[in-house]
Amino acid sequence: MSNYGVVNEEVILQLKTLCGNTGVLTDIESLIQYGSDETEDLVFMPVIVVKPDSAAQVSSVMKIASRHKIPVTPRGAGTGLSGGALPLFGGIVLSTEKLNRIISIDEQNLQATVEPGVINQVFRDAVEAKGLFYPPDPASRGSCFLGGNLAENAGGPKAVKYGVTKDYVLNCEVVLPDGEIIWTGANVLKNSTGYNLTQLMIGSEGTLGIITKIVFRLIPKPTEDLLMLVPFSSAEKACEAVSAVFRAGITPSAMEFMERDAIDFVMRFHQSSLVIKPHINAHLIIEVDGFDREVLMRDCEKISEVMMQHDCDEVMFADTASQKAELWKLRRAAGEAVKSHSVYKEEDTVVPRAQLPALLKGVKAIGQKYGFRSVCYGHAGDGNLHVNIIKENMSNEDWNIKIPTGIKEIFELCYQLGGTISGEHGIGYVQKNYLPLVFNKRQIEVQQKIKAVFDPLNILNPGKIFPD
Ligand code: LAC
Ligand code: ZN
Repeated sequence: MSNYGVVNEEVILQLKTLCGNTGVLTDIESLIQYGSDETEDLVFMPVIVVKPDSAAQVSSVMKIASRHKIPVTPRGAGTGLSGGALPLFGGIVLSTEKLNRIISIDEQNLQATVEPGVINQVFRDAVEAKGLFYPPDPASRGSCFLGGNLAENAGGPKAVKYGVTKDYVLNCEVVLPDGEIIWTGANVLKNSTGYNLTQLMIGSEGTLGIITKIVFRLIPKPTEDLLMLVPFSSAEKACEAVSAVFRAGITPSAMEFMERDAIDFVMRFHQSSLVIKPHINAHLIIEVDGFDREVLMRDCEKISEVMMQHDCDEVMFADTASQKAELWKLRRAAGEAVKSHSVYKEEDTVVPRAQLPALLKGVKAIGQKYGFRSVCYGHAGDGNLHVNIIKENMSNEDWNIKIPTGIKEIFELCYQLGGTISGEHGIGYVQKNYLPLVFNKRQIEVQQKIKAVFDPLNILNPGKIFPD
């Protein structure tokens, strides 16, 4: 039960005075829009949406919220898949969309300072224009905000070689729930000074503070890449081939898996003309990148050998920039394509890489047992398999009762295989009651105590991460 304060006329007036007329929304369409994200078909209506345009304004919003004990849900672009941005208790949604400035790109130190509402793609384009590279590239990179990427510790295809969001964040400016503004670290590449508050913020899903500035480290942009599409008649063999590539001494810059259904869904969604033979049941999309084309060609030869040892069909190369773009467009649209077809639940399973074949096999067996169809694809090189469970014609009763039991079994399997229940989407709202499958009481308690230190009133994104 919550005993939060209400957003009354006085509070609304204070917020309007603070953020101006363009910085506050209370109309019903906006409240519905800001009350949902990309997670299933869930909507939780806030009372008001505020769009501060400076850290000082964010701080003032939090001071008002603290004074009245009003829940505040921070929100980036709303592309999240675990419900992290859903305002479960109404109150205030705090959108970072006006905090969208790239403050500086420091070419001397290969660093950049940005606000959280900058779109991932806008940032990568800006640094690439200077020959620099920001690798984390979630599927939603064309619309997702960097602040949301930090909140969920987003990954994407490049993570397998370059790491995830947390590996690029050096320092953050954060507004704490009581309105105080702090920096979490220093703009340095090494730092062993006190607890690592920067990393604590990353993946904390907007429950500890509101990130208002981010300092990233950057790397030189690779100049060459090669992209292969490898079909398999056996999806399990495709998964087995994944870890064999790394054992052969190669780290691809992407190693993605798409089972047949996933490819069929996106091909229909984008009316693609790609031709796939009837007996093909899965594909690996493998990219290598670097600065020397000859080296990459040799890597691809080695990868092809490994693929053939795992009974692949004919290996194809995307030769032109437009073929590469087409292939990536298809891969990135997988989630969207499934969503456009049916209500679905998105599970973000992750296991040690070599356990991927066992995970896939287990997921399919659990689907058989509970009578659901799953569409599987994802970042195979990271052992990170997205399992999209689709509702289609399933009755609401089965959907609400059988599916959670099936999901629990999938997560138990992940844990048994040495993995966990989210690789890159976060726990948020929809996975919170599964958390005890991977953490014991004490492990959860330690985290809840950290939350209480930052947010004693429990007003910042309440109801997330921890089980009911
Ligand atoms: C992807 C998103 C769902 O990899 O994470 O497509
Ligand atoms: Zn993904």
